[in-house]
Amino acid sequence: MANHIGLILLGMALFGFSIDAKGIGFSIKEATVHDIQIAFKQNRLTSRQLVEFYLREIHRLNPVLRGVIEVNPDALYLADKADQERKTKRPGSLSGLHGIPILVKDNIATKDRLNTTAGSFALLGSVVPRDAGVVVKLRKAGAIILGKASLSEWSYFRSNTAPSGWNARVGQGVNPYIASADPCGSSSGSAISVAANMAAVTLGTETDGSILCPSNQNSVVGIRPTVGLTSRSGVVPITPRQDTVGPICRTVSDAVYVLDAIVGFDPYDAVETRGASKYIPKGGYLQFLKADGLRGKRLGITSDPSFGFPENSDIFPFFEHHLNTLRQGGAILVDHLEIPNLHAMVSYLGIDEDIAMKAEFKLAINDYLKQLVTSPVRSLADAIAFNNKHSDLEMIREYGQYYFLEAEKTNGIGKLEKKALLNLTRGSKDGFIKLMKKNKLDALVSPLNSLSLILAKGQFPGIIVPAGYDDEGTPFGITFGGLKGSEPKLIEIAYGFEQATKIRKPPSFKP
Ligand SMILES: *[C@@H]1O[C@H](CO)[C@@H](O)[C@H](O)[C@H]1NC(C)=O
Ligand SMILES: *[C@@H]1O[C@H](CO)[C@@H](O)[C@H](O)[C@H]1NC(C)=O
Repeated sequence: MANHIGLILLGMALFGFSIDAKGIGFSIKEATVHDIQIAFKQNRLTSRQLVEFYLREIHRLNPVLRGVIEVNPDALYLADKADQERKTKRPGSLSGLHGIPILVKDNIATKDRLNTTAGSFALLGSVVPRDAGVVVKLRKAGAIILGKASLSEWSYFRSNTAPSGWNARVGQGVNPYIASADPCGSSSGSAISVAANMAAVTLGTETDGSILCPSNQNSVVGIRPTVGLTSRSGVVPITPRQDTVGPICRTVSDAVYVLDAIVGFDPYDAVETRGASKYIPKGGYLQFLKADGLRGKRLGITSDPSFGFPENSDIFPFFEHHLNTLRQGGAILVDHLEIPNLHAMVSYLGIDEDIAMKAEFKLAINDYLKQLVTSPVRSLADAIAFNNKHSDLEMIREYGQYYFLEAEKTNGIGKLEKKALLNLTRGSKDGFIKLMKKNKLDALVSPLNSLSLILAKGQFPGIIVPAGYDDEGTPFGITFGGLKGSEPKLIEIAYGFEQATKIRKPPSFKP
C-alpha cells in the first residue's frame, strides 16, 4: 500500500448512461436493486434488457478480469420468464430480487446446465444432486442465475502458495481498480464482477476472510452472515463449523436484498439453519436500512498492532476521519479497547484453526463428493490423484496441493482436534464475546478486513463497506463485526456509515 494516500471523499457520481436501454433514460450500470425494481414497475426496464447488458459486459470485460467462470445458457430464457411473471402477478406480490440477475460463486451448486467446480477441472462434468440451499431460495425469490463467479481454487484449500483469485479453469482473477493489486479471495470473482458491473448482485462464501477480504480489495460491500443463518447445503465445503454464504454487492441496500432472500431453514443443513432461524427478524432485514442507523450505537475501537497497524499506518488518518464520521452520526465510540487475547487469536489460535480445519475438510469434502450424482472424483484421495495425473492442467507443479495432502493425513476428530476446537471456543468466549459484553458494544470496528480472523473463528457476522482508495487507487474498506445474530444492528451501522460517506466509485477499468 502506498505511503501517502489521496482519499476520495467525493459523493458517488452517476456514470455512463445505459448502452442498451437508451431512450428510456435508465442506466443499468451502477443501478441498485431498488432502482431496478422501480424501473420494472414503471415499465422502463425488463429483465431481458438487464441480462443482455450483463452478458455484453461479461463478454467485453471478462477476458481480462476473469471474474466469471461460466454464463448460464438459460439466462435469457429465465429473464423472459421473469418479465412474463411480472405482467401476470399482482404488484407487490413479488420479492425484491425478482427478475434480478445474480452470479454465484462456483462452489455453490446449481442443478442446471452450469457446472459447479470450485474452479477445478477435477469437478468439471460432475453432476450435483440438487440446487444448493441458497440457490433454492434465490430461484423461489425469482432471481435469475446469470452464471458462476470465479474464485481461488477450492476456496483456497488446495494449494497454500497459489496467488489469491487464481483457479485452473479461468486462471488469475484481476482487480478492476488496479490490475497489479491483489483481488484477494477466495470469493474473488464475485467481488471483481459486481465491482465492474458484470452482474447486478453476487453471492460469495467465507470460511475465514473469503467474503470480507475480496470486498475490501475490490471496493464493494460484503456481508458475512452468522454461521447457519444461510444454508451451506450444496456448497463445496471447507468446514461446516465456519463456512457461511453471503452477499457481495455494490451497496449495503443491495446486499440486504440478497440476504433477505437467502436466509432461513434448509432441511439439508437442518441443525445449523434451524438453530440460527431465531436470529431472523420478523419482516426481514430491509427495515434496518435507516439513514440514522448510527444513532446511539456503541462501537468499539482498537488500535492494536495486530489489527492492521502499524503496517497499514498510511490509512490510519483516514480511519481516524471515519471515526469522526461515525461520531457525527450519533455513535458512541468506545476507544482504546484491547481484546484480551487478540495476540493469541492471531498467533497460536491460527494453528488451532488449521488443525481443526484440515480434519473437518477431509470429512466434509468426502461427504460432498460422495453425494454427487456423477463425478470424475469421489473422494479427497481421488482429487489428489487427479491433480497428480493432470499436473499441467492444474498447475500442481507450480502451486502444489499442500492443504489437500495435509487434510488427507488426518483421521477424523481425534484428541488433538478436540483440544484445538476447545481452544477456539475458549478463545472467542474469553476474547471477543467478553469484550463485546463488558463494554456493551453493538459492533467492533476495524480498518480493512482485520476483524476477519476473530469473526471466522467464532462464527460471528460482519459487514464491510468501502472506505477509500490509496494514492495508487487501491481500495480499502471498514469492517463492522458483532455477536451472533447481530445482523440487524450491523446493517444499521453499515448503512448509516455508507450513507454518510458514499465513498465507493466504480472502477475506471477499460479492457
Ligand atoms: C459445463 O462443462 C462442460 C464440459 O464438461 C461444457 O461442455 C459445458 O459447456 C459447461 N457448461 C456451461 C454452462 O458452460
Ligand atoms: C491449545 O492451547 C494451549 C495453551 O492454552 C496450547 O498449549 C496448545 O498447543 C493449544 N492447541 C492444542 C491443539 O493443544
